[in-house]
Amino acid sequence: MEGNEVHFCRLLAFFIYFTQLFVQVFSSQLATTNDITLTLDGTLYFEVIEPQSISYTYKLKPSTDFGVPFTSMLRYVDLIIAEPYEACSPITNYIRNSVVMVSRGHCSFLTKTYNVEKAGGVAAIITDNNTDNDNVLIDMISDETKRETSIPSLFLLGKDGAMIRKELERLELDKAIINIPINITGVLPNRANKPPWTLW
Ligand SMILES: *[C@@H]1O[C@H](CO)[C@@H](O)[C@H](O)[C@H]1NC(C)=O
Ligand SMILES: *[C@@H]1O[C@H](CO)[C@@H](O)[C@H](O)[C@H]1NC(C)=O
Repeated sequence: MEGNEVHFCRLLAFFIYFTQLFVQVFSSQLATTNDITLTLDGTLYFEVIEPQSISYTYKLKPSTDFGVPFTSMLRYVDLIIAEPYEACSPITNYIRNSVVMVSRGHCSFLTKTYNVEKAGGVAAIITDNNTDNDNVLIDMISDETKRETSIPSLFLLGKDGAMIRKELERLELDKAIINIPINITGVLPNRANKPPWTLW
């Protein structure tokens, strides 16, 4: 081969190599940007921004039996406590476009989620009615009614729910401001901003 041809072949090889590299990097970025699953070992996380006194990272267990996963990361969204708190009947306070916290008990997890969705809530957080529970995340199952829900539904430790509710009452606030879900991939467990009263 002539010197010029060798040179051309090398250039072509480099060109192909870098094209492939670019395609690889680009496609792996596409794969992660659309992934808002953010579930680690079956749990995901939200953080309270306001009020500051309960501004921690909280752990949730999403229902896999009903409801849907988050399709976007909600930023600075209102977290409102349902009235009635157990949400076994239609919710009476204004919860439109908010994440809604309800208490476990007296009706199915699905009924509570259904009532949150009907009142315009964008996600249901169901906290344990055992307000001392600071470590058992329940796997919420559906009921026999086959009703459809198309919002996420997540279980929260009873202790966390009780502390959030108590603090909002004390400060006479009708809502907290939260980010949900949040990405704690790569955050070491001992660095996570967990509430001082929980163990994880
Ligand atoms: C979550 O954070 C990790 C580590 O920083 C990052 O690689 C990943 O792309 C992030 N995921 C999302 C959905 O933002
Ligand atoms: C919590 O709710 C469950 C399910 O409805 C019920 O079996 C249990 O007795 C309740 N516990 C308390 C402490 O209210």
